[in-house]
Amino acid sequence: MTTQQNHSSDIHFAYWVPNVSGGLVVSNIEQRTDWGIDYNRRLAKAAEKNGFEYALTQIRFTAGYGADNQHESVAFSHSILESTENLKVIAAILPGPWKPAVVAKQLATIDQLTNGRIAINIVSGWFRGEFDAIGEEWPDHDERYVRSEEFIRTLKGIWTQDNYSFDGKYYQFKDYTLKPKPLQQPHPEIFQGGSSRAARDMASRVSDWYFTNGNTVEGIKAQVDDIREKAKANNHHVKIGLNAFIIARDTEEEAQAVLQEIIDKANPEAVNAFGDAAKEAGAASPEGEGNWAKSTFEDLVQYNDGFKTNLIGTPQQVAERIVALKAAGVDLVLAGFLHFIEEVEYFGEKVLPLVRELEAKNNEQLKAAV
Ligand SMILES: Cc1cc2nc3c(=O)[nH]c(=O)nc-3n(C[C@H](O)[C@H](O)[C@H](O)COP(=O)(O)O)c2cc1C
Repeated sequence: MTTQQNHSSDIHFAYWVPNVSGGLVVSNIEQRTDWGIDYNRRLAKAAEKNGFEYALTQIRFTAGYGADNQHESVAFSHSILESTENLKVIAAILPGPWKPAVVAKQLATIDQLTNGRIAINIVSGWFRGEFDAIGEEWPDHDERYVRSEEFIRTLKGIWTQDNYSFDGKYYQFKDYTLKPKPLQQPHPEIFQGGSSRAARDMASRVSDWYFTNGNTVEGIKAQVDDIREKAKANNHHVKIGLNAFIIARDTEEEAQAVLQEIIDKANPEAVNAFGDAAKEAGAASPEGEGNWAKSTFEDLVQYNDGFKTNLIGTPQQVAERIVALKAAGVDLVLAGFLHFIEEVEYFGEKVLPLVRELEAKNNEQLKAAV
């Protein structure tokens, strides 16, 4: 196992916390991944030793497809933070069920207790059945982003100001002072998930990080260019995180065979149930560019289109493709794996050193060209 030095220009790595049962693929293939806390504590320790800076938890209140059990994201994040030393854990939060006052307070305390290692992922909701089941209102697609943006603005306000006031459509604060404030300055990092026009526009105004579904180099570059141009006009800087389901094996044939087996053993009923809910969400964005709006059956076998990113092959192939993504403007790869612990270790030993080597070579070339 190796701990890799992360220079500020190096690409960052996060992994999906398997706090939901069934792993990250809707397939009956054998998975040596477990959604319980013991496995997750071991995984978190292995991840921070193998170059992963962040871990992302998932939030689901219910599931209309495979993922039968779902641990809650904030409690689970805290538990993982308690068993690690350097890892930052990103807690997924759904505006609607959560209110900003509660989240600001809860996360400020976790930040204090963990030496400043909590972050947050604001997800705007894609699964109507879940909201109906828990009696939450289901605003239209773009209206969900109006609410999320107010959520992010108020979080920042509460975390950074005393006597904070806000008079929004969804949230109101009057002369509110949170004490203690979070340890991290100016505040814990705020990520958001999505692909639609509304998601990208929100990122270009308020989020620190934009997380999106798996995509090709060309596909992500178009999104990055779009967001960066708007962000510049708003005098805002936002970093980009891209999902990828990584299958790195000693030979390309082995890696492709694993992908094929995942797809061959896909559970069609569950994939279609997930696809119906997900596509309704993606297609529900007025411009029809939301997450999953264009996903095929095979794409949907991985919840967030992670096969599309094509980090599937030998360590050298995967490393080269990661560096190509970086050149397209990606700041962070969010990784999912079939057998998490063993593959996180393989990634740290075999893939990451090649990524850092290629990055160093590119940096040398850039220096020489100046
Ligand atoms: C990396 C990533 C992580 C996400 N995690 C969650 C989650 O834990 N829970 C959830 O309900 N939605 C999650 N989402 C869904 C998004 O917040 C959003 O609702 C969905 O992508 C549809 O967005 P769009 O229609 O604006 O593209 C995630 C999305 C991405 C890209």
